[in-house]
Amino acid sequence: MATRVRSTTGVVARRLSRVVVFMQEKQALRTCTTQSTTHHGLELLQVMKCWQQEAGYKKIAGRGFRLLALLGAGATGMLGLSGLAYADEAEHGLQSPSYPWTHNGIFSSYDHTSIRRGHQVFKQVCAACHSMNLIAYRDLIGVAYTEDEVKEIAAEIEVQDGPNDEGEMFSRPGKPSDYFPAPYANEQAARFSNGGAYPPDLSLICKARHNGQNYVFALLTGYREPPAGVSVREGLYYNPYFPGGAIAMPKVINDGGIEFEDGTPASASQMAKDVVSFLTWAAEPEADERKLIGAKWIFVGCLLLFQVGHYKRWKWAPIKSRKLVLDVVN
Ligand code: HEC
Repeated sequence: MATRVRSTTGVVARRLSRVVVFMQEKQALRTCTTQSTTHHGLELLQVMKCWQQEAGYKKIAGRGFRLLALLGAGATGMLGLSGLAYADEAEHGLQSPSYPWTHNGIFSSYDHTSIRRGHQVFKQVCAACHSMNLIAYRDLIGVAYTEDEVKEIAAEIEVQDGPNDEGEMFSRPGKPSDYFPAPYANEQAARFSNGGAYPPDLSLICKARHNGQNYVFALLTGYREPPAGVSVREGLYYNPYFPGGAIAMPKVINDGGIEFEDGTPASASQMAKDVVSFLTWAAEPEADERKLIGAKWIFVGCLLLFQVGHYKRWKWAPIKSRKLVLDVVN
């Protein structure tokens, strides 16, 4: 890189010095031609040559300046970026690694058993503090549970409904059309119970954060002792992935924290991975279908491309194989 930069600046400098020499020559020539009363053919030739050269040098000079400007912009950009990287770690949190999610590929669907376990983690752990108000129980049908299972799960909650014929509000067991219940009545209650911090709604969290799924996984598994020299205020917990490094959410995912119904060992990383799969699905439930439709369109597009190619060759064949003959004899 360094040698390349040096050589390009060398080229620019050489070109610029050539331009300067040329300017001097041109000036000398001009004074000479204006001084002489008769324009000899030789002089005219020189003047014309001079104009040609001028056009050429102008081009070179233009290119040189553009190169210089580009170099300048590049250097400023690089300096700016390196500054940003430092500011990033302190202000925006440590960059989360890219994990090999099985649903990452363009032809890969979600791991639905993982979504099912993730829902279990959400229900038993996260739902104590976080709402998820864009997801209804029925959304889980065909994704993680059968319809009967969803009816059973929904019936576990109590929903305020009404008014009935007598104008009274009443509670009833939940139905698949009900949305996930919120743990707190309002934001103030949520803040009051969490030391002033608001646990955000998790419906779209994987889209609402930069590098969503990797960030949430890194955040959930990233709790550790603060490094020497860093002190964290009472009620906050050290987590390098959280912007600022101190988060109001305690470490909620611990080895063996819950018992998976399918018998998967509930290690902390397993639970974090499953809950992130669930949250990613929640933020983008259409992903599986989108990829399937995408694959179909690419297939159809390829067929179409073949047809268009063939049609073009067919239409152009008479024109491309045409031969013009000039018969000079007759
Ligand atoms: C004891 C309550 C509690 C539980 C349980 C809990 N959280 Fe939180 N969570 C919080 C609070 C409080 C915040 C806000 C933190 C802050 O702003 O400092 C938060 C913030 C978050 C954030 C947002 C971080 C950001 O970048 O703003 C995510 C993501 C999150 N929690 C995920 C989860 C997941 C997933 C679970 C379940 C495995 C969970 N939380 C369980 C209290 C909780």
